[in-house]
This record gives sequence, C-alpha cells and structure tokens, in this order.
Amino acid sequence: MRILGIETSCDETALAIVEATHQAASDNKNGSLEPHFSLVGDALISQIDIHKPYGGVFPAIAKREHAKNLIPLLHTLLTKTGLEKSAAITLDSELKTKVAQILEREHDLLNAFIEYISTIEKPAIDAIAVTHGPGLEPALWVGVNFAQALGAVWNVPVIPTNHMEGHIISPLLSNQSSVLFPAVALLISGGHTELVEVAGWGQYRIIGKTQDDAVGEAYDKVARLLDLSYPGGPPIAALAQKSRDKKYPKHYTLPRPMITSNDGNFSFSGLKTAVLYALKKDPATTPELRADLAREFEDAVTDVLIKKTQWALEQTRANSLIIGGGVIANTHLRRNLATLATKNSVSLHIPDQKLTTDNAIMIAMAGYITLINRMENNSVVSLKAQGNLSL
Ligand code: KG4
Ligand code: ZN
Repeated sequence: MRILGIETSCDETALAIVEATHQAASDNKNGSLEPHFSLVGDALISQIDIHKPYGGVFPAIAKREHAKNLIPLLHTLLTKTGLEKSAAITLDSELKTKVAQILEREHDLLNAFIEYISTIEKPAIDAIAVTHGPGLEPALWVGVNFAQALGAVWNVPVIPTNHMEGHIISPLLSNQSSVLFPAVALLISGGHTELVEVAGWGQYRIIGKTQDDAVGEAYDKVARLLDLSYPGGPPIAALAQKSRDKKYPKHYTLPRPMITSNDGNFSFSGLKTAVLYALKKDPATTPELRADLAREFEDAVTDVLIKKTQWALEQTRANSLIIGGGVIANTHLRRNLATLATKNSVSLHIPDQKLTTDNAIMIAMAGYITLINRMENNSVVSLKAQGNLSL
C-alpha cells in the first residue's frame, strides 16, 4: 500500500510517500503486527529561519507558511517521484463546492489547490495520513483540511495520525522489524518529553512526562539566557562540548529536578530558572564560564533523562529502547543513552538524522499502523485537529 503523509503540526511543512506492507501478528513471535516500510520520496520546507527572530514558533505565521507551502511541495514531491501525470481534470460542481467548504478557512490555499489539482491525474497512492495532533492547532488545521480536500478529489481514505506515534515509529525506516516488545520509547523534542510503554505497534501507554517545559524547550530558553540563537540545542551542545574537550574547570552547579522521585516524570522549568539565578548571582563573563554553564546544564538534563529511562526500562521489563524527537541529535545524550541500553541489555533504536526532526515520512508510517489496526477493529476515528492529543 502506498501512503501520502502530511505533517504541519509545528514549523515544518512536510509531505512524503511511503510504501508499506506488514505481516499479521499471528505470523510472528513478537505478538505485534510487523510492518515494513520503504521511502518512495519526500519534500520538506523548514520555517526555522522565519521564526528565529521570535525565539520560538509563532502559530499564526506557521499556519500562513504551511498554507503557502503545501501545493508547491506536493508538486515537487509528485515530480521527483515520477507520480505527476499531466491531465486536464474538470471537477464537477458538487465536488468543487465540497472542496470550497473543506478549505473555507484556508483562502490562500483554496485557489492554488483548485488550480493545481485540475492539471494532474490522481497519483498512484492508496491513502493519506495526516497529523491531527498534538501540535499548534491553527497549524494542524491547515494540514487536516488539505488532506481532506485531497481525499475528496482523489477518493482515497484520510487517516488521522498521532504525531507522537510518528516519532515512536520513526526508527523503523532504517532499522526494520527488530524492535522487541515490550519496548520503552523516550520522546524528546521542543514540545514533548514523554516515556511511553510500547506493547506492540499501535499499543501505547504513557508512563511519564514533563510537568512543565519539554527538554528542547529548556535548551531553547537557556540559549536565550546565554544570547545564543534559536533553536538553542545545537549552540548549547557545541559550547558544552568545548568545555569537555578543553577540560575547563567546573564552576557552576545546577539541580537535577525530580531525579529522586522514583517515577517517569520530569520537570525542566526549574532548571531553566536555576540557570537564570546562577547568571544573576555569578555572571558568565568569560567564554570559559559560559561553556561551563552550558556543560553543567547539559549534564543535568542528561543525568535526569538517564535516571528516568532506567526506571522505565525496569518498570516495563523492556527488551528495546526507542528514542525519537529533535533532541536526540545531541551527541552527548546519544552516547549516554547508548551506554544505558548496553548496560540493560536492550536493543537501541534511533532514527536516521533526517527522521529525528519533524517529517512526513514518520506520519505516513504511523498512519499505516493506524489504518491496519482500525481495519482489524472495524473502528472509525473522527478527523479533527486536536492540539492536546495524547497517545
Ligand atoms: O522534534 P523537533 O525537531 O521539533 C519539535 O519540537 O517537535 O525538536 C526541536 C527541538 C528544539 O527545541 C531544539 O533546540 C532541539 O530539538 N535540539 C537539540 C539539538 N538539536 C535540536 N537539543 C539538544 N541538542 C541538540 N543537538
Ligand atoms: Zn515532533
């Protein structure tokens, strides 16, 4: 089956086409359906530079950019995958009215949509998977409405897909079928910090999450305190590494919030406040001191993530550890989590760099899982954007 994935939950507008098959649960020892994915093609526009001056993602601008990007991206994707076939298509008036209703709130998109869709044949896809949450609601709606309009014109099913399930399944593209259940997924991004027990594909239970800020958000806020650019992860990681490489003396001490709470929950806003107070009391006036503060912050984050993930692995008697989300680009954290996996004799599953940040490949893959599970249960899920959607 060929699935078109659509992702607009935050500041990446992304489309991808994935070829998916699976073995039924009864065919394998693992007790879960076993999917296989291959990438047909993808196209993505990042809005990072547009949001940079605001130090974070500005929802109204994100929505406007998604609306502007979707049709050019679809054209790029269909052209590069060889799936764009020119044709003069006349939408009958009933269909035109339906599309106009679906895209009622997406004025900018509607005209470009009708114009482009009338010039191509339906491409060879079987279903559309779209992120309907969690994320920024105005941004999510653009993708959901776009997916529904395409579904109506091409007469294919539209599958509402959970963005976090996308992050959980993202390692499967390069590392097929080797996840052994139960597994623990650690999801670390700018919007989320969650520990999830994965009993099988499509079977998730959140066993811990942040009480306030996400890890990536803490990196971004601390970066602002140090006058570093957005997103804050890479510049802080670089400073911290400099401090380790050059063996700068340790100066600052920061707390490890909730490290002794003996559960899977996190709190990162206090850590950011601790950095603020440390800077007020003892300004980082030299490059060495700035690098040391970045190193101590990163060590504090790493210590907490390792302790909580260890707890989750023990709690669930996991056989695999899956890690997803933009923060796993962090080399120091990656190294420490790899050591943790080895120590616990669990297999480690981290996506390729391209799939760590938000993308539509993982949405197409998660959509396939949702579709298969839904077909087995005969259940129907309503399609609406849900900013606070949980797994
Ligand atoms: O998953 P993602 O691309 O977007 C969502 O938030 O959904 O994650 C972006 C987050 C940002 O907060 C960014 O600062 C963080 O990931 N990040 C990093 C690194 N690279 C990106 N955090 C720590 N170290 C990094 N090397
Ligand atoms: Zn994400």
